[in-house]
Amino acid sequence: MDLGLKGKVIVVTGGSQGIGKGIVEALQAEGSIVINFDVREPTYRVEFLRVDVSKSQEVKGGIEQVIAKYNRIDAVVNNAGIESYGSVDETSEEEWDRIMNVNVKGPFLTSKYSIPYMLKQGKGVIVNIASIQSFATQRRVAAYTTSKHALLGLTRSIAVDYAPTIRAVAICPGSIRTPLLEWAAEQEVGKERIEEKIREWGEIYPMKRVGEPLEVGYLTAFLISDLASFINGVCVTIDGGLTALIPVSTPKR
Ligand SMILES: NC(=O)c1ccc[n+]([C@@H]2O[C@H](COP(=O)([O-])OP(=O)(O)OC[C@H]3O[C@@H](n4cnc5c(N)ncnc54)[C@H](O)[C@@H]3O)[C@@H](O)[C@H]2O)c1
Repeated sequence: MDLGLKGKVIVVTGGSQGIGKGIVEALQAEGSIVINFDVREPTYRVEFLRVDVSKSQEVKGGIEQVIAKYNRIDAVVNNAGIESYGSVDETSEEEWDRIMNVNVKGPFLTSKYSIPYMLKQGKGVIVNIASIQSFATQRRVAAYTTSKHALLGLTRSIAVDYAPTIRAVAICPGSIRTPLLEWAAEQEVGKERIEEKIREWGEIYPMKRVGEPLEVGYLTAFLISDLASFINGVCVTIDGGLTALIPVSTPKR
């Protein structure tokens, strides 16, 4: 199936590794022109602009550079995100602000500065990488969970304010195998037992494994494409069935 994404100009934030890299690779395979806004240099072939998504001037400058070079911006994928552990009383104000600035203000800024160009060209798509922690939460991730809940609000706001010209969609992944997931495993069990911990998490999933970045990449490519032209203002969950499961035992057959 041709997604019709050849030559489309698409900004992906946080595309240097993890889910962002999977998204870039899926889009590149469709022939899109992808510009990666990241604070970390990529170690593979992708056009790269050093942009901290929480810094207004850097985001504005990055979007202007894309427009100066390609004269259009067909889609923005807000993927850059950070996580840290802590319940509310454990979370410092500085940490709260750091998480909110990257995970919520970042997508606000990229949207704010790209929407005028999308309106001018008469079309555009914004995809926000949220989380299954946009509607439920693990323990002791208060700031992160709050930021991912907020991202659904931003998605819905853009969806209703700019339809039918611009569509906005959120993707809510469960555990995906990335450096961030490895970091999370290390926090719990130490460096030597990362693999074991990720396998253990995978066992909780009906699919018996965690997800892969490319699986999120394929979904993103579909949602940006015109094949998804009536999908707007919703969150598409990609979690191997985890949130369909109530983890309370029943008799064996
Ligand atoms: N991995 C998972 O299990 C999982 C599950 C649900 C949602 N998510 C979300 O998916 C997104 C990507 O997660 P990941 O696991 O690939 O993370 P990751 O840490 O492996 O990669 C994140 C990328 O974002 C970049 N980044 C961080 N702060 C930035 C900033 N201020 N400006 C620009 N770039 C910045 C990093 O340099 C890195 O390249 C995040 O929003 C995360 O919350 C991840």
